Amino acid sequence: MKKISPKIVAMTRSHIPACSDIVASSEPWKSLRETVDFLPSIKRKQAFVALIEGAVAGFVVFTQEPVFARGGYLRAIGVAPAIRGFGIGKFLMDFAEKATAKHAPNFFLCVSSFNRAAQAFYRKNGYKKVGKIDGLIRKGASEYIYWKKLR
Ligand SMILES: CC(C)(COP(=O)(O)OP(=O)(O)OC[C@H]1O[C@@H](n2cnc3c(N)ncnc32)[C@H](O)[C@@H]1OP(=O)(O)O)[C@@H](O)C(=O)NCCC(=O)NCCS
Repeated sequence: MKKISPKIVAMTRSHIPACSDIVASSEPWKSLRETVDFLPSIKRKQAFVALIEGAVAGFVVFTQEPVFARGGYLRAIGVAPAIRGFGIGKFLMDFAEKATAKHAPNFFLCVSSFNRAAQAFYRKNGYKKVGKIDGLIRKGASEYIYWKKLR
């Protein structure tokens, strides 16, 4: 499949509606009935969007500084449903990993046990499941901890 190279810029308030639309139509947030409050992450300069011809194609929110076990932390990533599978998620992950690698040798993330598509995506991008927290967010589900050594 053809890969697309978007432009990545810092998220601003004007991007929030498009990012919230992605959240509203995507797992795990749909099942968890959760929204993402992007504003604090924008203020901390931890939120970025991928733009294609000026339109929001996806977002990534992450902490570059080592916050846990010498690692940064990926808080959230999402790509607009209609344009998944074209490499935009990987492009966003590469961006987050490169930025984090300047500050920390590892990168961690959590993914819900029922979000199998995201787990496949993370495994493809070199992440390993290293832990599990049962019932953290939803009874009967687990949060898996994934880890990648960046350097
Ligand atoms: C997970 C997500 C960000 C991936 O974005 P994407 O743009 O579709 O992913 P890419 O096209 O960059 O895929 C990168 C690699 O992962 C693989 N991959 C992506 N989605 C996959 C899936 N559902 N099943 C298996 N492999 C998958 C691709 O095949 C690709 O591998 P390749 O490089 O060998 O071709 C996107 O599906 C999404 O927004 N999901 C909903 C939100 C979510 O679950 N976020 C994570 C929890 S915070």
